[in-house]
Amino acid sequence: MCGIVGYVGRRRAAPVIIEGLKKLEYRGYDSFGVATSCSGIEMIKRQGRISDSGDCASELSGFAGIGHTRWATHGVPNDVNAHPHTDCTGNIAIVHNGIIENYIELKRLLISEGHIFLSETDSEVVAHLVEKYYKGDLLKAVFLATEKLEGSYALLVICGSEKRIIAARKMSPLVIGVGDGEVIASSDMTPILEYARKMIFLEDGDVADVMESGIQVYNEKNPVERSPKIVEWDFESAKKGGFDHYMLKEIFEQPDVFYKSFSSEIDEGSMLDLKKASCVTVVACGTSWHAGMIFRYLMEKYCKIPVRVEIASEFSNFTPLHDSVMVAVTQSGETADTLAALKSAKKENFTTFAITNVPGSSVTRIADHVLYTCAGPEISVAATKSFTAQVAVLMKIVSCLSENFIEKELLGIHPLIEEALLFDAQPAAEICRSANSLFFVGRGVYYPVSLEGALKMKEITYIHAEGYPAGELKHGPFSLLCGETPVIAICTGDDSYPVMMSNIKEIKARGAPVIGIGSAGDIDLEEICDIYIPLPKSSGICEIVTASVILQELAYKTAVLLGRDVDKPRNLAKSVTVI
Ligand code: G6P
Repeated sequence: MCGIVGYVGRRRAAPVIIEGLKKLEYRGYDSFGVATSCSGIEMIKRQGRISDSGDCASELSGFAGIGHTRWATHGVPNDVNAHPHTDCTGNIAIVHNGIIENYIELKRLLISEGHIFLSETDSEVVAHLVEKYYKGDLLKAVFLATEKLEGSYALLVICGSEKRIIAARKMSPLVIGVGDGEVIASSDMTPILEYARKMIFLEDGDVADVMESGIQVYNEKNPVERSPKIVEWDFESAKKGGFDHYMLKEIFEQPDVFYKSFSSEIDEGSMLDLKKASCVTVVACGTSWHAGMIFRYLMEKYCKIPVRVEIASEFSNFTPLHDSVMVAVTQSGETADTLAALKSAKKENFTTFAITNVPGSSVTRIADHVLYTCAGPEISVAATKSFTAQVAVLMKIVSCLSENFIEKELLGIHPLIEEALLFDAQPAAEICRSANSLFFVGRGVYYPVSLEGALKMKEITYIHAEGYPAGELKHGPFSLLCGETPVIAICTGDDSYPVMMSNIKEIKARGAPVIGIGSAGDIDLEEICDIYIPLPKSSGICEIVTASVILQELAYKTAVLLGRDVDKPRNLAKSVTVI
C-alpha cells in the first residue's frame, strides 16, 4: 500500500529514489512524486507510473530526498493527491504510507489555525502538523506531530536545506539500510540491497534521525539501540534477468525455491510447540489463505490433526478454538488483516507461528515462532514462487509431524517442477482468453489448488474466474455453463478420481469446454476433455505442486495473449497494509 523511499548520502538523491520507487511499484502505482532538500525543497509529483515517466524527476538537485509511489485510499489518483505533501510554506515535505485515522479532526483544527490544504488525502495533515511544531528543530517537530496521529504510518520528512530525513513508523513497514557514507530508507528491502546490506528494521513508535553518517533511533523521545541485521538476499534476483515479465521469471524460479524452502530445518523450539498442538488455526489472506487450505487437507490426511483455516479479516467474527496453535501465513509479513488476527490470537494466549518470506517484517516481531520461506524477493504483484514456498514450508510441517512420511518424494520434486515448466500453455490459453467466465474445479486438496488457479487468472487477465469444489457446481453454477464458460478441471489419480470423472462428464453434457489437468498417461481423461494437460509422472503429493505451477503458467499465458499488464494488474497491490 504505497511505497516510500528516502536517501541521504554522497550521491544525488533523486536518481536513487526514482530507481528505488520503481522497485516498490508493486505496492501501488497510480501516481508518484519525489522531493529533495537542497537550497529549499524541490519537488515533482504526477499521476501515473514512475516507470512510464522517463527521467522527469532526475533534474532535482540535492543529496537528501524522499519519494512515494501511491495506491490511492483517500482521494482519487491525480497530481495534487500524489505525495510528497508540503506545509503552507513549502519548506517541509513528507511522504506517508498507511492511514491517519483521525485526519478529519486534525484537518479541521489546522484549518481553524490558518493552514491551507491542497489535497484530499489524510497524509497532508502530517506536513501541516510538523509545520505547526517546527521551531528550528525538525526531530522535535516530528516527535510532537506523531503524538497527535492515530492510525498507521511510515513517514519520511525533510525540511529546507537540511541534509537529513526524519523517519517514523507505526504499524507500517520501514527499513533503513546503512551503507558507506549513505543511508537509504524504504518500505521494503529491495531498493536498499544495491547500496547496503546492514538493515535496521524500525519498530512501532520509533522515530529515526537519518543522516549520511548513520542513524539515531528514538522511542518515546529516548534514544534506543536497534541492532542492524545483515541481509543476504541476492540483489540480482530482484531483476528481470532476460524474462519478459517478473512473473514469468518468478514462476521459473520455483524448482529451487520449493527445494530450499522444503529442505530448511524447523528449529527445535518450534517443533516442540507444534507437537503439542491438538488442533491448528491458520489465518491468512489471498494466495496465502489458499496455501493454508492445502495445509489443512494434508494435516488432516497425514497427521490426523484438525485444522481451521480462516480468512484473516473474518477471524474476529468467530470464537477462537482453544488448545490450538495459530499459524499466520503471509508472504510480505505486513498484511494488516493478518497482523490484526495474530495480535488478537496472542491476547487469547495462542502459541503463534508466522510463515513469511520477509526477514524483519512486522509479523516476525509478533509471532512466538517464525518459519521463513526461501522465495527471495518477489516483484510481480501476483504471488507465484512465494505461494509454492509457503506450500513447501507447510508440507515440511506435515512431514515432520507425520514422521517424514512424505519427505523423500518432496525432496525429489526439483525435476518434476522443471518438467511442468516446459508445458505449452498456448492452446489452453487460447480457449481461456475469449471466455466470459471461467470455472476451476477440483476435489479434496485440489479444491484450494483450483481456488488459487482462479485467483491467479482473475488477478492478471481480468476475466471473471471462480474456484469451486467440483461436487458443488451442480448446486447452482451449472446454470451458468455454456460454450463460453470453459471449466478447468484438476483430476488426478487420487481417491476422488471416479467422482471427478463423473463431474467432468456432467460439465461436458452442459456444453462447457473442459481443460483437464491430470496424471500422466490418463487416456480416459484425455478422451473426455477438450484439452488434456498431463502432469509430470509422480506421486500424489508432488502433483499438488506441479498442478499449481501449470495453473500459474496458464494464467500468465492468457494475460499475455490479452495484452494485460502482467506484473502490475489494475487496482491491486502486493502488500496490503490497510484493514
Ligand atoms: C494481496 C496480494 C495477494 C496476496 C495477499 C496476501 O492481496 O495482492 O497476492 O496473496 O495480499 O498477502 P500476504 O503478503 O499476507 O501473503
